[in-house]
Amino acid sequence: MLVGGQGTRLRPLTMSAPKPMLPVAGVPVTAHMLARARDAGIDHVILATSYRAEVFEQYFGDGSEVGIELEYITEVEPLGTGGGIRNVADRLRCGADDPVVIFNGDVLSGLDLGALIRRHSDTGADVTLHLHEVEDPRAFGVVPVTPDGRVLEFLEKTPDPPTNLINAGCYVFRRSVLEAIPAGRPVSVERETFPGLLADGAHVAGYIDNTYWLDLGTPAAFVQGSADLVTGRMPSSALPGPVGESLVLPGAVVAADAKLGNGTTVGAGARVGPGAVVDATVLFDGASVGARAQVTGSVIGRDAIIGEGVVLDGVVIGDGARVEPGNELRDGLRVFPGAVLAAGSVRFSSDRS
Ligand code: GTP
Repeated sequence: MLVGGQGTRLRPLTMSAPKPMLPVAGVPVTAHMLARARDAGIDHVILATSYRAEVFEQYFGDGSEVGIELEYITEVEPLGTGGGIRNVADRLRCGADDPVVIFNGDVLSGLDLGALIRRHSDTGADVTLHLHEVEDPRAFGVVPVTPDGRVLEFLEKTPDPPTNLINAGCYVFRRSVLEAIPAGRPVSVERETFPGLLADGAHVAGYIDNTYWLDLGTPAAFVQGSADLVTGRMPSSALPGPVGESLVLPGAVVAADAKLGNGTTVGAGARVGPGAVVDATVLFDGASVGARAQVTGSVIGRDAIIGEGVVLDGVVIGDGARVEPGNELRDGLRVFPGAVLAAGSVRFSSDRS
């Protein structure tokens, strides 16, 4: 599982925690994906870490609590997606022809992993990729396939994509193919390894699965993914509570007349004051929302304080920041960790971050 990226698109949240460790629906993204791997019968996972490597082991330890044997490998210099995959090769225990499953650690996916692995074995492919169909593929690299599922090309973003199928960030490699990735230098699996395999005539297969899929790379996707887990649209056995309109973690205090909806999560020890309305939002542990505040589609960092009557819509508030009463923040605005917005200082929208 690749978890070593910088997560720049999710700044400032990723200044204090790596993206795969940010809590969606109460637990790190990685915990949801590990639960899916375990539920599909995978019992040994190596986390390929780099940025803020130490926090993974502090949280998951040897994996016994999630029911998987976990190992950690840390890249001193980030090796990119392909380099990160190559770097764990020595720790694999399977035979040269056996399948190795690679996950991007920032994707929420309902993919049937067992079916993906079976397809890989049945076709005898060198690599099998999970492909997902999106309505508008212009923002993604796309992967055209033949009717029997052989990958033809890897195309970068283009205004006129020839297919709606995108690379969904989960692959099965034959072990010997993974070991042929060059060691000890940065490699992009998407830009170098896959096109190189095609050029060498390797059998690269696509497996189309159109169940739930979301890349949690942006703030809007992050709140969407968390809400989908809370409401059960994306099932996860790691959800720390029953499916419902909202998830309130132990130690949180929510005023009786506050309204939580559309998959809002209230983190451990967080507070929501009287009359506040918190909709499709993620409150990290210890965050607090004052009386009559209105918060929609936003992420509120650890221990951040949102004052009485403040209006937030589609914003990211960094850990420990304070937004005093009389502020209204909208449309992608981001407040850095520890910043203080004095009373009444912001009443405008911005889609710049
Ligand atoms: P952005 O900077 O916002 O694009 O996010 P990112 O750094 O996570 O990059 P991206 O979303 O492209 O990464 C896809 C997956 O690969 C994520 O799970 C990352 O954690 C992981 N990843 C990216 N670069 C590296 C790397 O150099 N080493 C390792 N081990 N994992 C990586």
